[in-house]
Amino acid sequence: MGSLKNEEEMEPIEGESSKDAVLYVNGIRRVLPDGLAHLTLLEYLRDIGLTGTKLGCGEGGCGACTIMVSHYNEVLKKYVHYAVNACLAPLYSVEGMHIITVEGVGNRKTGLHPVQFTEMQAMPLRSGMLCVNGSRESQSSLIYKRLCLLDKLSRTLQHESLARSHGSQCGFCTPGFIMSMYALLRSSELPPTEEQIEECLAGNLCRCTGYRPIIDAFQVFAKTDDAFYTNTSSSDLQSGDFLCPSTGKPCSCKSKSLNGAETCKKSTANENKYEPVSYSEVDGSTYTDKELIFPPELLLRKLTPLYLNGFGGLKWFRPLKIQHLLELKAKFPDAKLVVGNTEVGIEMRLKRIQYKVLISVAHVPELNVLHVKDDGLEIGAAVRLTELLQMFRKVVNERAAHETSSCKAFIEQIKWFAGTQIKNVACVGGNICTASPISDLNPLWMAAGAKFQIIDCKGNIRTIMAENFFLGYRKVDLTSGEILLSIFLPWTRPFEYVKEFKQAHRRDDDIAIVNAGMRVFLEEKGEDLVVSDALIVYGGVAPLSLSAVKTKEFIIGKNWDQELLQGALKFLETDIFLKEDAPGGMVEFRKSLTLSFFFKFFLWVSQQICMKKSTGIPLSYLSATQPFQRPSIMGNQDYEIRKHGTSVGSPEIHLSSRLQVTGEAEYADDTPMPSSGLHAALVLSRKPHAKILSIDDSEAKSSPGFAGIFLAKDVPGDNHIGPITHDEELFATQYVTCVGQVIGVVAADTHENAKLAAAKVVIEYEELPAILSIQEAVDAKSFHPNSEKCLKKGDVDLCFQSGQCDKIIDGEVHVGGQEHFYLEPQSSLVWTMDSGSEVHMISSTQAPQKHQKYVAQVLGLPMSKVVCKTKRIGGGFGGKETRSAFIAAAASVPSYLLNRSVKLTLDRDVDMMITGQRHTFLGKYKVGFTKEGRLLALDLEIYNNAGNSLDLSLAVLERAMFHSDNVYEIPNIRILGRVCFTNFPSHTAFRGFGGPQGMLIAENWIQKIAVELNKNPEEIREINFQGEGSILHYSQQLQYCTLGQLWNELKLSSDLLRAREDAKQFNLQNRWKKRGVAMVPTKFGISFTTKFMNQIKLILPHLFLWVIKCNAILHNEVDVSLVKKLVMGIGCGADNPLPSMVARLLLHHIMVVAPLVEMMANCHGPGVAVGAGALVHVYTDGTVLVTHGGVEMGQGLHTKVAQVAASAFNIPLSSVFISETSTDKVLRYCKLELDITAVSVTLELSVGCSCMEFDCSVQIKSSIWHGPCVCDFSFLLCSVLGVGRLKLHMEDGLMQDVPNTSPTAASASSDLYGAAVLDACEQIKARMEPVALKHNFSSFAELAGACYMQRIDLSAHGFYITPDIGFDWTTCKGNPFNYYTYGAAFAEVEIDTLTGDFHTRTANIILDLGYSINPAIDVGQIEGAFIQGLGWVAMEELKWGDAAHKWIPPGCLYTSGPGSYKIPSMNDVPFKFSVSLLKGHPNVKAIHSSKAVGEPPFFLASAVFFAIKDAIIAARAEVGHHEWFPLSNPATPERIRMACLDEFSSRFIDSDFRPKLSV
Ligand SMILES: Cc1cc2nc3c(=O)[nH]c(=O)nc-3n(C[C@H](O)[C@H](O)[C@H](O)COP(=O)(O)OP(=O)(O)OC[C@H]3O[C@@H](n4cnc5c(N)ncnc54)[C@H](O)[C@@H]3O)c2cc1C
Ligand code: FES
Ligand code: FES
Repeated sequence: MGSLKNEEEMEPIEGESSKDAVLYVNGIRRVLPDGLAHLTLLEYLRDIGLTGTKLGCGEGGCGACTIMVSHYNEVLKKYVHYAVNACLAPLYSVEGMHIITVEGVGNRKTGLHPVQFTEMQAMPLRSGMLCVNGSRESQSSLIYKRLCLLDKLSRTLQHESLARSHGSQCGFCTPGFIMSMYALLRSSELPPTEEQIEECLAGNLCRCTGYRPIIDAFQVFAKTDDAFYTNTSSSDLQSGDFLCPSTGKPCSCKSKSLNGAETCKKSTANENKYEPVSYSEVDGSTYTDKELIFPPELLLRKLTPLYLNGFGGLKWFRPLKIQHLLELKAKFPDAKLVVGNTEVGIEMRLKRIQYKVLISVAHVPELNVLHVKDDGLEIGAAVRLTELLQMFRKVVNERAAHETSSCKAFIEQIKWFAGTQIKNVACVGGNICTASPISDLNPLWMAAGAKFQIIDCKGNIRTIMAENFFLGYRKVDLTSGEILLSIFLPWTRPFEYVKEFKQAHRRDDDIAIVNAGMRVFLEEKGEDLVVSDALIVYGGVAPLSLSAVKTKEFIIGKNWDQELLQGALKFLETDIFLKEDAPGGMVEFRKSLTLSFFFKFFLWVSQQICMKKSTGIPLSYLSATQPFQRPSIMGNQDYEIRKHGTSVGSPEIHLSSRLQVTGEAEYADDTPMPSSGLHAALVLSRKPHAKILSIDDSEAKSSPGFAGIFLAKDVPGDNHIGPITHDEELFATQYVTCVGQVIGVVAADTHENAKLAAAKVVIEYEELPAILSIQEAVDAKSFHPNSEKCLKKGDVDLCFQSGQCDKIIDGEVHVGGQEHFYLEPQSSLVWTMDSGSEVHMISSTQAPQKHQKYVAQVLGLPMSKVVCKTKRIGGGFGGKETRSAFIAAAASVPSYLLNRSVKLTLDRDVDMMITGQRHTFLGKYKVGFTKEGRLLALDLEIYNNAGNSLDLSLAVLERAMFHSDNVYEIPNIRILGRVCFTNFPSHTAFRGFGGPQGMLIAENWIQKIAVELNKNPEEIREINFQGEGSILHYSQQLQYCTLGQLWNELKLSSDLLRAREDAKQFNLQNRWKKRGVAMVPTKFGISFTTKFMNQIKLILPHLFLWVIKCNAILHNEVDVSLVKKLVMGIGCGADNPLPSMVARLLLHHIMVVAPLVEMMANCHGPGVAVGAGALVHVYTDGTVLVTHGGVEMGQGLHTKVAQVAASAFNIPLSSVFISETSTDKVLRYCKLELDITAVSVTLELSVGCSCMEFDCSVQIKSSIWHGPCVCDFSFLLCSVLGVGRLKLHMEDGLMQDVPNTSPTAASASSDLYGAAVLDACEQIKARMEPVALKHNFSSFAELAGACYMQRIDLSAHGFYITPDIGFDWTTCKGNPFNYYTYGAAFAEVEIDTLTGDFHTRTANIILDLGYSINPAIDVGQIEGAFIQGLGWVAMEELKWGDAAHKWIPPGCLYTSGPGSYKIPSMNDVPFKFSVSLLKGHPNVKAIHSSKAVGEPPFFLASAVFFAIKDAIIAARAEVGHHEWFPLSNPATPERIRMACLDEFSSRFIDSDFRPKLSV
């Protein structure tokens, strides 16, 4: 046991124990044992079973781990509550405090807190059309239009909370959001403002929702109308309104047990005033029953000094007085001081630096001073940034304006410094002493003339100017016995101006690319203002915060005028020196920024002076100084409700949302481990291409907790894996072909120990040449075998030569990649049963079947002995379709061989490094068109970067080729596609599956045509639109095309022409800010286009074709020889009716049917439909259990499927439960119905979707197939289908063991599984019908009970296949898609041409989703896809070690965490964000007339990209550049700024400069 010492006991004596170290978690007292100093709070919480708090990144960058800390602040003399990232908080740093996790906020048993969920009265439904069971009951159109956040009052009365407002999709981020909001509410003495709410959520990332619904949910807690808090009388409240116990505002949480509601109501009536109650610190009586109070023990208990220990001899001290601290520092000179641990934590976890002694100085009063003095502000080194911010705001309000110029600069800078959770714990001294070259604050301390007070072990204090404190890279002027005591910030004087600057990849919560602090002090000399003193300091341009000394010297003594500006710019060029391959890259951009910032500073100071003197600066220049200001987000969703039965068509909330908002929803890593369970870590290659010379695991074996290491030689089964082609090794044998390739797996007792041991495996390599870009692959002809594809229509060459084309242009498009960044990392838990004869696993995957198959294969087990279950996943987006399976397989090896449970959860950086991303593409085009812009011919070559294995890359390429026309009629097309082999980890599926890349290439040349013809791109788009009946370049004909209609609707609602004109006017008036607009259409084909389908059609004989009566049609050229062989190979004895029948059919087929089939093939194209399976059970209490093959990953699949079942049985949605997805229950099917003579037979072929080699399961519904003929039939089918194994299930036999669920992907899951469930429901209904007709049952439960009594089977297996699809690459004909989802988007952006900063002012989206099954979920998908797409086109850049990035080790991923890879945050949501669904267009091709939604809206975000380009065009035009220029995605600040040519950037680049991109 460690030691908790009284304050009087100053001497820390190791080993001595006194009182317990105590922590309260959710009101429960917990004694903290000694020995846990290495643990984070997150690890501890999850270890004690509080798994609601999630691990998303472990580096403070995602907010999934947010919890609330409450403690008594000695300085403020009050209790404080604040949100903290538990992943960075050392466990002992919260000793003596109260931790509230999401479980403590509310749960389903005791009730949900209003931030989690509020019951809402049914939304008003206006006149409408209600379709019940297909028949119309009401004729008028039911339009449900929500105008969120437009009307403050109505918004306040909507009372939505996170669950209710559809703010939780996959739910993995949800507890973090809940906790951030909860902490804000509990810490606010007044209801927070909208701005405060958005600010408090800036440190939380969500990859699913697009944030709008989250903002929507929480904005109801904002103070929007003073009347609610001051003098609103109870009569103003609508009847039934309650007061929120947290905010004191009206809400409808309505829980009857919630005393607060009644109390508050009463107090409202009595006192005529609403009081927020939750911030009350001590008096439990004012809390609702559900709100946890501050524990009385902690109230009375004083903090005591602390000395505890941790793993590896780590010592943890918590001194409470400076003297104690100094003594400790004297004793342990190398000790690390910690406050927020946001630097030290990262160093220890990610950089693996081992510190031996940590001293927590957070509670040393001398380090926490905040004194306002006459000459400035004294700030203790341990003051946290949030406190500092509050103090700055206070002094700015209280003191003369000229004194607080520095304070204002700090306020602005801290605004964009990390997320709230980080600012709540990170201290000033930590930031200063880390001396990061990109520290946001250090340039400001320096510029502002701050002084640092330093104290040594003996208590001697010295003062040093901030300017002189920083010595080198992370090196400061502190000896080992010294610490930073405080900072003194002087007030500014009249005519003294301080300004901050920062440009990052993402505005919110991102480290700077370049930042700066600048100060100038001017003196009046006659008419002139002369620089008397100045300091210009930059971050991000050198190993330390760099003072531009020559510039300073130059400007001192000069007049503040144009001459000074021009001279200073020249000196800056020499002051800032960056080598071409400087770490961090972006050299030209960084240099340009230094000038841009100074220019902005010059204008800003001039503007300040301007109030006193005229500086002659044009008004349009002032745009450079206008700070970014974001209004509250206005969301608008417009859709109609087409109800069908009890539930279909309703905007029901996500079925799991209540579990998700309380943290009760379990994900793979939340599954409890048995005590004997082990953790695994992967041994990974560090070279992109090398021969393995030796593997030395001796050190790993002696590592703590080690349980085993397993390499290729240990794999019990087949070491070769791959979803289509088995071109991967589970564990590398001789060669590695990418950094991050798996070489082995280590198992140990803890996650940390497993990683430690894996890191100790020493591998010797012989390095080989690596291919690290598409261009290098093209040059070396490095393509995956058999991956070249060609699509043709018309005659491209003839068209180009014919002279029909008025213009022919060519060019290249580089399309950037994208990381999935699902919030839940890859995770699998594998265990054995019966000593390894069965293997089970729980995996975070979109494809449980793949996990089952891989594991069976590598362990050498039959698939029937391997089961994979998936309850839900925290986002997938394609990244868990195939690239999750090898992780499960790797974990299965130690589990199987050691016969123990093994969990393998990837750290975020490893996950990003090894599991592949969205493919980068290179497109080379040549386009011919008329002078009006009408397209005539397209010759296109596209290449995708597949990485080191084929995975799904060919199918991705194919889809890109299919979508290369986007929505345009092109008479002559030739598209050549190739899949490049490179030495990167295998890239994989990602929302859109190649479609967006194909379309982005298309829109690039459309945009170029517009520039060539000096027209708006929209004009070019419109005159080339495809329409009803258009025949595409792969011969599919468009049906039910709604493109024109939705385009016109959007054009009208967005007032495109007006918006263009407004942007033009704005641009004329603003030199340094430009606006751009764009409108982009999309057409997205729905269905899988994966290779196996093509494979199947080649194998399946036409035996089946002539007898197929269902919509799963196989059309193929006749392979007569195969059929003949089959006939010959089968004995056709008289006692064996089936084969003889089959033989007769085959012969008949050859003679008669084949020509007919060929004819049919020409019409429809060959192929086979992919289907889905579902199992439905009706119970006697009237509830329904549904199991289907789809995985719930946030997209609301289970909700929609449940709605289908509820409507089918005419029961409430609450009566339907969707069970987990499991490979031992349901599958995805191909269904072929044969009508052989008089006997009807159904064959259900269950196949893995993207698997060439598959097992096949056949159900025979006719009884004639009993007996020996079954074996023959089985044999026949095996040969015919080319499968190794075949399971036949008799109709009356068991259907439980049906394998091969397919991945949940390609947007089509609702179509497939919804239809499969409906099929099962219809079967059960048909069986129930005779009973139902005989009696008048008062409920469904009664009917079910009666059926049960009559021995009616209330369980059914449903299936569905997508009809009429298939494509033949040899003839380039067929229908790869079942139907298309059409959409369009309008966007307006504003860019800062000096920095490349941008924001989206407006985004309007319209999509045709037929009759939506659940419009709220669909809107959520659209918003989420759009924001994810926005990340792809404008923010998210993957930087790999390649020729373009020589400062990164070859083949390594630099952007491997949220710190360096920036997905959109709340701040990136368009100011006005509207989504509407096209009305009145049912889709005849899918269930309940709906359409698939997951992928189609993704590409619409390209409207933002082209709006950015439009704005850049305006900026370039201003300096006389009217020529076309390339812009690659993502259009990051670097690309935007460097494309906006001006006098600053032109000092470093030519006009054809193109920033580097890993492609
Ligand atoms: C997600 C995330 C986002 C971030 N964003 C930003 C950002 O936008 N801008 C930015 O500038 N930084 C950013 N940082 C960096 C970091 O938050 C800051 O540097 C922070 O201020 C460090 O404070 P801390 O209390 O957490 O330091 P700790 O990790 O506790 O300590 C940091 C270092 O300072 C030393 N130290 C602390 N106090 C003293 C003292 N009194 N005397 C001597 N040495 C001392 C410690 O020994 C240690 O070496 C970010 C970090 C994270 C994890
Ligand atoms: S897990 Fe803590 S911030 Fe991401
Ligand atoms: S719901 Fe936010 S990450 Fe999935």
